[in-house]
Amino acid sequence: MSTTTASGSQNLAAYLTAAKGPFSVLPAPQRVPAAGEVLVKVQACALQPADAKVAKLAVLPVAYPTILGSPVAGFVEAVGEGVQKVKVGDRVVASTSIFEKGGDERWGGVQRFAIVSERNAIAIPSSLSFENACATASHSPVAALHAVGTLNIPRASNPSEPAPQTTGTILIWGGSSAMGSLAISYAKKAGLTVITTCSRHNFDLVKSLGADFVLDYKRPQGDVVADLVKTAKQVGVPKYWFDTISLPASMAPLVEVISQTTAPDQAVMVLHLNPPFMFVSSVTIPPNVTTKLYTISSAEKGDPELMQWMLGKGGYLERGLNEGWLRGVPPLVLGGLDQVEKGIEMLHREEVSGQKLVVLPWQD
Ligand SMILES: NC(=O)c1ccc[n+]([C@@H]2O[C@H](COP(=O)([O-])OP(=O)(O)OC[C@H]3O[C@@H](n4cnc5c(N)ncnc54)[C@H](OP(=O)(O)O)[C@@H]3O)[C@@H](O)[C@H]2O)c1
Repeated sequence: MSTTTASGSQNLAAYLTAAKGPFSVLPAPQRVPAAGEVLVKVQACALQPADAKVAKLAVLPVAYPTILGSPVAGFVEAVGEGVQKVKVGDRVVASTSIFEKGGDERWGGVQRFAIVSERNAIAIPSSLSFENACATASHSPVAALHAVGTLNIPRASNPSEPAPQTTGTILIWGGSSAMGSLAISYAKKAGLTVITTCSRHNFDLVKSLGADFVLDYKRPQGDVVADLVKTAKQVGVPKYWFDTISLPASMAPLVEVISQTTAPDQAVMVLHLNPPFMFVSSVTIPPNVTTKLYTISSAEKGDPELMQWMLGKGGYLERGLNEGWLRGVPPLVLGGLDQVEKGIEMLHREEVSGQKLVVLPWQD
C-alpha cells in the first residue's frame, strides 16, 4: 500500500485502533480526492469533546481503526473532479466528515493528509494562523443560531458593520466553551444582547467576544439563578435560550430561570447540544418548555439555503474568518500527533477551559 502523496511526503496518522482502544501514530495510506473532494495537507487540527466521547465511551458506531479530529486547517494539496471552490495551494479550514462517514479514516483530521468535502472547505487569509482557524471554524454555532429549525435568529444584514442592538436578548449557557464563545460572536453580529455564564477566570475572554452580562455559574445554584433572573428582568427576558453545555448542571438552573421569568403558558424553546438522555433523568422540564437537540445534519436538511449562505464561497464563515470579526476561544497547541491521546484524556476529564485543543500533524 502506497503511503506517499503527489508531493512526495509520507502520510502519518494518529489512529484510534479499536473501540475505547489506544491511539497509535502510524504511516497511513496516500489519500486521493474523488469528485467533489479536497485533499488538505493538514497543518493544524482541533480535537472535539465528541472525539473524546467516541474514543473513551464508544458512543457512536465507527469502523476501526479510525482517525478523529475536526476541523483541519492547511494547504489544498489536490482537488477531485469538479471542485471549483478552492484550488491547489490555497490556505483553507474545513470541518471533517469523519462521523457522517462512519469513521472511514480518509475523512479523519489528525493525519498529515485528510480528505474534506468541497462544501466544507473555506478559504482563509495568510493573516490567520492555522491554529486559530481550526479553533474558530466550527459550523455548529452559526447553524444553531440561524437555521429555520433551530433558534432561527435573523441574520446580520451586513456583518462588516456594527450590528444595531435591537433584536432582543439571548442567554448562552457556557460562554467560555468553544461552542458558546462562537455563539456569542455570532449573536453579537445579529444584534442581540448576550447574557452568559462561565467560570470567573474566563470573564475577560467572554467579554472580549462581546458578552454583555457574565455570571459565574460555579456559585450555589440558587444565587446563580437569582442573579440571572434579576439580569433578565433588567435587560429583557431572553427570546432565545441556548445551552451549549447541555448537562444537568446547566439545564437545571437554566429551566429554573425560565420558570421565574416567563408565564407558565408561554412556550419557550431551549436549544441544546447533547442528546436529552444526558440531562432528562435528573432535570424536570416545565410543560411550557421544549428542549431541542441541535445537529448539523438536521439543520442542513431543514435549511439548505442557510448552509449555502454559511459555507458558500464568500459566505458568512469565510467572511467572518477573513474580516477578523469571527472569534472564539484561543487554541491550546499540544504538539504533534503523539499528543492526540493526551488531548482526548483532557477532554474526557473535562480539563479544558476557554481553549480549543489543537495538534500539529507535521510537528515531531
Ligand atoms: N450537537 C452538535 O452538533 C454538537 C456540536 C459541537 C459540540 N457539541 C457538544 O457540545 C458540548 C460543548 O462543546 P464544546 O466544544 O464547546 O466544549 P468545550 O469547549 O470543550 O467545553 C469546555 C467549557 O465548558 C464550560 N463548562 C463546563 N461545565 C459548565 C457548566 N455547568 N456551565 C457553564 N459552562 C460550563 C467550561 O467553562 P469554564 O472553564 O469557564 O468553567 C469550559 O470552558 C459538548 O458536549 C460537545 O460534545 C455538540
